[in-house]
Amino acid sequence: MSKEYNIAVIPGDGTGPEVVAEGIKVLNAVSSRLGFTLKYTEYDIGGERYKRTGETLPDSVLEELKQYKAIYLGAIGHPDVKPGILEKEILLRTRFELDQYINLRPVKLFEGVDTPLKNKGPKEIDFVVVRENTEGLYTGAGGVLKKGTKDEVAVQESINTRKGVERCLRFAFDYTKKRNKENKLTLCGKTNVLTYAFNLWERAFYEVAIEYPGITTDYAHVDATCMWMVKNPEWFDVIVTDNMFGDIITDLGAMIQGGMGIACGGNINPEGVSMFEPIGGSAPKYTGKNIINPLAAILAGGMLLEFIGEKEGADLIEKAVQNAIKTEIKSLDAGKMGMGTREIGDLIAKSVLSI
Ligand code: IPM
Ligand code: MN
Repeated sequence: MSKEYNIAVIPGDGTGPEVVAEGIKVLNAVSSRLGFTLKYTEYDIGGERYKRTGETLPDSVLEELKQYKAIYLGAIGHPDVKPGILEKEILLRTRFELDQYINLRPVKLFEGVDTPLKNKGPKEIDFVVVRENTEGLYTGAGGVLKKGTKDEVAVQESINTRKGVERCLRFAFDYTKKRNKENKLTLCGKTNVLTYAFNLWERAFYEVAIEYPGITTDYAHVDATCMWMVKNPEWFDVIVTDNMFGDIITDLGAMIQGGMGIACGGNINPEGVSMFEPIGGSAPKYTGKNIINPLAAILAGGMLLEFIGEKEGADLIEKAVQNAIKTEIKSLDAGKMGMGTREIGDLIAKSVLSI
C-alpha cells in the first residue's frame, strides 16, 4: 500500500487561502509522481472566524491538530482585528502547545532573483536561521503596574531555560551537520549586555559543541549579525539564536533573499507535529485578485515534505521553483510577476511532473 499522510490545512486570512490552494496543487502533483498520498483536512481558523464567532483556536481543534503528520498554514491576520489577539491566541498558542520549539527559516537567494545587496548573488546568500520558538520574550511573562498612570511600570521578561536552550542548540548542530555545507554554526546573541540570558546560551553552546567536532563554531552579537548579513552574508551557514532576535533577523533575511513572495518557514517539533507557512502574512490588499505570489507557500509545502520524510519531493519543488524563476516569472512582487497566482501554481505543478 502506498504511504498516506494526514495533513491539517489552515488557509487562514487574506491571501492565505489563495496561496495555500496553489501549494496543495503542487503537493498533489508531487505526491502523484512519487506515489504517496496526502489527505487534507481543512480548519476554519483565523480572523474571519473570530469576527463571526468570537473564537480563535478552540481547545478541541488544538487537540485534533496534535493528531496530524503536519500542519500547512496560509496566513493569520485581519485588518479589523486588534493586533495581538490572533497572533497570540492562534499562532503563538499553536507553537507553544504543540511544542514547536524550532522556527526554521532558510535564507536562500534563487538564481534570477533580485537582492538589494550589491555584488551578492545565490552563492553568497544561502544560509539558514534556527530560531528558538517557545521561550525568550515570547512567553508572555511579565506584567504591568499602575497602567494608564504616570507611574506605569511595564515588565516583559525573557525566559531562557537550560532545557529549552539546549534542545534548540542540539537541533542547530544536528541541522548544520546534515546540511553539510560549510559545517559552521554561528550563535547570534548579545553576551555583552544580556549577561544572564546569553551567558546561558553561550555556555550551553560551547558545551554541546564538544559533541560535534566536525562543526566550526562562531559567535556574533545580534547587531553585528545584522551588519554581516548585509555586508558579508556568505559568512553564514547556519545561525542559531533566541526567539526575539530570530524574529528580527529573519525578516532581514527575507528581504535579502528577494522578499516576502519567496520566504517560507517551519515551526518544528522534531518529535511531534510541525507547521509550515509562507512568512509574508495575510496581505489583505491583494486578497482575491490573483496577483499574490504563491512561491513562498509552495516552498513551505516543500519544507513540509522534507520534514515528513519525503525529501525527494521537497527537492522536486525547489528545482521547479528555480526553473520557473529563471525562465518565466518576471518578478516576485505581487502584481508584477507577469502571471497570476493560479498560473504560477499551474506552472510549478506541471514542472514537478516533468523535471
Ligand atoms: C513570525 C511572525 C510572528 C512572530 C508574529 C505574527 C507573532 O512575525 O512568525 O515571524 O513574531 O513570531
Ligand atoms: Mn516575524
